[in-house]
Amino acid sequence: MSAILPVSRLSARRLALGAALLLVPLFLIAGPSGTSVFRPVSSPADSIHRYSLFILGITGAIFAVVFTMLVVAIVRFRRRPGDDAAEPPQIYGSEQVEVAWTVVPILIVIVMSLTTARTVFEVQNRARPPAALEVTAIGRQWWWEFRYPAYGIVTANELHVPVSDAAHPSPTFLRLESADVAHSFWVPRLAGKTDLIPNRVNETWIDPRETGLFEGQCAEYCGTQHAKMLLRVYVHSREDFDRWVAAQRASAAAAPEAEEGRRVFESTACLNCHTVRGTVGNGLYGPDLTHLMSRETIAAGAVPNTPAELRAWVRDPNALKPGALMPAMQLDDRKLDALVAYLLTLK
Ligand code: CUA
Repeated sequence: MSAILPVSRLSARRLALGAALLLVPLFLIAGPSGTSVFRPVSSPADSIHRYSLFILGITGAIFAVVFTMLVVAIVRFRRRPGDDAAEPPQIYGSEQVEVAWTVVPILIVIVMSLTTARTVFEVQNRARPPAALEVTAIGRQWWWEFRYPAYGIVTANELHVPVSDAAHPSPTFLRLESADVAHSFWVPRLAGKTDLIPNRVNETWIDPRETGLFEGQCAEYCGTQHAKMLLRVYVHSREDFDRWVAAQRASAAAAPEAEEGRRVFESTACLNCHTVRGTVGNGLYGPDLTHLMSRETIAAGAVPNTPAELRAWVRDPNALKPGALMPAMQLDDRKLDALVAYLLTLK
C-alpha cells in the first residue's frame, strides 16, 4: 500500500497539470485578443467560426470519450498489492466492436467532409451587389500595396473600407496578387486566409458589420521580414469612408516650407521607388507616399508613424527591419532632417 499511494497521487497531480496546460491554448485563441477567430465581425469569418465550433464539438467529444476510457482503464485496472503475476484473460476478436469502431469514424468523417464543403461554398460563392467595393491587394517583400481602381487611390499596409450593414450591404472584394513570392492575406476577425501567389489572381471578400480597426498578418512565410508584414483594416461609416476617399484622391499638398527636403527627395534615389502624386516621383517599387502622414504606422505596421520613427526608418531601414529592401541613403543629418520635414508635409 505504502509503495503505491504516492505514485497515484503523483499521477493525479500530473493529470491536473496536463488538463490545465490544455486550457492555455484555448484561452490564447478565445481570449480578448484583437485577432481572435472566435470574435468574427464579417460573413466569411462567421462561416469559419461556426464551422470551427462544430469541429471543436466533435473532436472535443472524441477527446472526452477516449480520455475517460483511458483514465478508467488506468485507475480500475492498475496493479494492486496482492495481485498474482498471472496474465488477465486474453480475448481475441469481436465482430460488434470492430464494426462499431469502423462505422462510427466513417460517419464522423463523412459529416465533417460535408460540413467543410458547405463552408467552402458559403465563403466562395458570394454575389456581388452593385455597391461592392473592389480593391487590389498586392503582396510585396515586406509590405502590402492596396489599389482602389474605381478611385485611382494607391496606398500601403492600411486598408480602408466602408462598414456593411444588412440593409445596405457594401462588401469589399479583394483581388489578391503578388509582386514577388507567396504571401497570405489574413485578418482573422474578417475572413480566413487566402494566399497571394505570383502570376495568379486569387480573391477574397469581407463585409465587416462593425466600424473600427481590425488587425492581421501575412500568414505565409515570405522571407526574412515575414513577421513584420502586418495588416491593418480600418472599417469606417459610409460618410467617413467617403471623406477618406476624397482626401486620398487629392495630389500631394504643396509645401514651400519644405522645399529643401523635396529637393533631397528628388535628387536621391527615393523617387525611383516611391510615388508622390503631383511631383516627378513616380516610382512603383515602394509604397506610394502621396499621403504618407495619413497612415498610423510605417514599415508595414512595424512602428508607429511618428517623426522620430520616420527619421530612424529613413536613416537606416535595416536597423528596424533587417533585410528590408529599402537602402539607407547615407544622408548627412542636415539632409535627413530636411527630407523628414518634407515627408511630414505629405498629409
Ligand atoms: Cu508576406 Cu509572409
